[in-house]
Amino acid sequence: MAENINEKPNGQLRVGDNSLELPRVPASCGEDGVHIGAMRTATGVVALDPGFNSTASCNSKITFIDGDKGILRYRGYPIEQLAERSSFLEVCYLLIHGELPTAKELKAFSERIHENRLLHEDFKSFFTAFPAHGHPMSVLQGGIVGMSTYYEYSTKNVLDPQQQEEQAILLLAKVPTMIAYTAKRAAGLPLLYPDASRSYTEDFLRMTFGLPYQSYDIDPEIVHALDMLFILHADHEQNCSTSTVRMVGSAQANMYASVASGVGALSGPLHGGANEAVLDMLNMMRDTGMTVKEFVNKVKNKEDGVKLMGFGHRVYKNYDPRAAIVRDTAHTVLKRLGASEVSEMLDMAMELEEVALKDEYFVKRRLYPNVDFYTGLIYTAMGFKTKMFTPLFALGRLPGWIAQYIEMLNDPATKIGRPRQVYDGEVLRDYIPVRERGKN
Ligand code: CMC
Repeated sequence: MAENINEKPNGQLRVGDNSLELPRVPASCGEDGVHIGAMRTATGVVALDPGFNSTASCNSKITFIDGDKGILRYRGYPIEQLAERSSFLEVCYLLIHGELPTAKELKAFSERIHENRLLHEDFKSFFTAFPAHGHPMSVLQGGIVGMSTYYEYSTKNVLDPQQQEEQAILLLAKVPTMIAYTAKRAAGLPLLYPDASRSYTEDFLRMTFGLPYQSYDIDPEIVHALDMLFILHADHEQNCSTSTVRMVGSAQANMYASVASGVGALSGPLHGGANEAVLDMLNMMRDTGMTVKEFVNKVKNKEDGVKLMGFGHRVYKNYDPRAAIVRDTAHTVLKRLGASEVSEMLDMAMELEEVALKDEYFVKRRLYPNVDFYTGLIYTAMGFKTKMFTPLFALGRLPGWIAQYIEMLNDPATKIGRPRQVYDGEVLRDYIPVRERGKN
């Protein structure tokens, strides 16, 4: 339901003698937009907004965030309700199709994914082409773009809704297999084929940790916790990786190429790579015996550019609602698994949070824990190596990237993404042959 339907004035812009009315673009909730498409022609200037602090890149019906209130909703449903009551595959369907599925629709959707989980047999050699210790995000990025070659038939017409659906299913089906293969190869252990009799997340865990000569049984509570973490990561509107997916897709690149670009963006430590960086930070503190206070002082003094990883967010200026759920889940999972060493790290993380939240530096800048602050501790307790954390984020974010890609291609307002710039380099100079350079 629209929360904001009152008539509101358009924007007005004056640049020198030129003025322009900027049509207001109403939001159903959150901030309205003003359309500046005619600005350059009417005024002769372009808008400059590095990092897109005040710039919306599109209209979207997928995810709503209110960063001041700490609200996150997928297709209107509060994240807290979905985390507690839904499943990852149901959320995938919701994000991609816009509505929660009926039981029949969910069954058909899940079956299509399960049927496609096997990777082409030749694909295995792809994994051995990379060094076993290579970062799994790089391998994953390569693997996803490689899908365009194995499943080329699904990329012939990117505007065809059926082909979009096919690419979506293949990505959701094969990426967990790929991530599990990457983990197995890094550990020098045999790859396992998918088992369609298990649920999506349970089978991902089995392929990652199971061995061919042992039956694999896992606590359903742990499966549920990981499934829920995937839900929390499933979409986050126009973040860096999603904007990358939209940008690449706006050139009508296929979904595999676009999503692979998103994986590249996600790997950065300021984005999804933060979950790995948080654990590196906690390990460093533990190994060097650095106290929480000493570390926080280092951050405040901006020594060597050190940051409190897993803290801060461009949009949330309040507690990230995902972080609150993850923190509670960390307690449950660690208790369930009896992971005492990780529990000590959790205590350290909570002390860091407590100190930071009372400190003037963090209070003034409105810096709170984000989704990445506690996830790594849960993944560690589950047995994942640190390098696997960001691929887990990527697996969770897949449906968001897919949904945003499809929305972008089907939006009649979409044009190829091509920002302007404000050029401030040399104006004009004559070429000087190399032998004559540096003579004066
Ligand atoms: N530790 C210390 N200082 C910080 C932090 C932090 N984690 N985050 C922001 N600041 C400071 C920053 O130095 C700046 O200070 P000043 O005003 O003195 O220059 C101020 O707060 C504003 O920060 P900003 O860099 O302008 O904010 P941004 O919106 O451009 O960046 C961010 C957002 C997430 C990149 C940043 O907060 C950060 O680097 N956090 C640590 C990395 C991290 O946890 N990333 C995961 C983000 S959530 C999940 C995801 O997107 O994948």
